[in-house]
Amino acid sequence: MSTPWPFPRIIAHRGGGRFAPENTLAAIRKGHALGFRGVEFDVMLTSDARPVLIHDETLERTTDGRGNVAETPLDVLATLDAGSWFDAAFKAEPVPAFEAAAALCASLGLWANVEIKPATGHEQETGRVAAMTALTAWNGAVPQPLLSSLSAAALRAARSAAPALPRGLLFDAVPADWLAQLQALECVSLHCNAARLEQRTARAIRDAGYGLAVWTVNDPAMAKRLFGWGVDAIFTDRLDLIGPDFAA
Ligand code: G3P
Ligand code: MG
Repeated sequence: MSTPWPFPRIIAHRGGGRFAPENTLAAIRKGHALGFRGVEFDVMLTSDARPVLIHDETLERTTDGRGNVAETPLDVLATLDAGSWFDAAFKAEPVPAFEAAAALCASLGLWANVEIKPATGHEQETGRVAAMTALTAWNGAVPQPLLSSLSAAALRAARSAAPALPRGLLFDAVPADWLAQLQALECVSLHCNAARLEQRTARAIRDAGYGLAVWTVNDPAMAKRLFGWGVDAIFTDRLDLIGPDFAA
């Protein structure tokens, strides 16, 4: 790779930022409709090991269901309403299967950062299934997705299942041994919480040849500052204030 970040620089967080219910097909469509070339979404496994788009381990915040995602089968999850909590206009918007989200991105030519978000205790299986599903769903179509996770175990399993798909390692605050961790997992990028990033760390990551993407940046002045530090990409909810060409 000639550049450490050959991906879009402004990424619609959870699909459509604050303009659609997070992690739904409607959100991905919204991000695309607003001109974004890249979206991020979260992938977790159901009780029958099917990958779906959802952020929390529990259903209550973003659906009309109750309980744990990891204890709920796909056929039950598919009947839930993941849109009404956000706005009545999105009533009955389902929790999407990862396959459906991947197919939508591929058909729109939209790049995706697939954040592998394992429920506690399901790290390896989530990494393996998410990577296998991504491999099959994209089937070589470009742009290829970037797999990322806070879980090293999930990324290790993803590497075994789909070694050719690029990987990014997430940290809240960047630890002292970040380089060794990225090398061990053969990652192309580091993703971290923008609020906890220091300028000298940003420089060290870039100097080491890794891509650097940071969440969640909703203030244009802060976005500008971070790009000035050499940050490659930001995840944003404010698709209105920080447009797809903000970093151009
Ligand atoms: O992938 C970056 C970002 O989405 C990580 O935070 O909690 O929004 O998934 P979260
Ligand atoms: Mg995420």
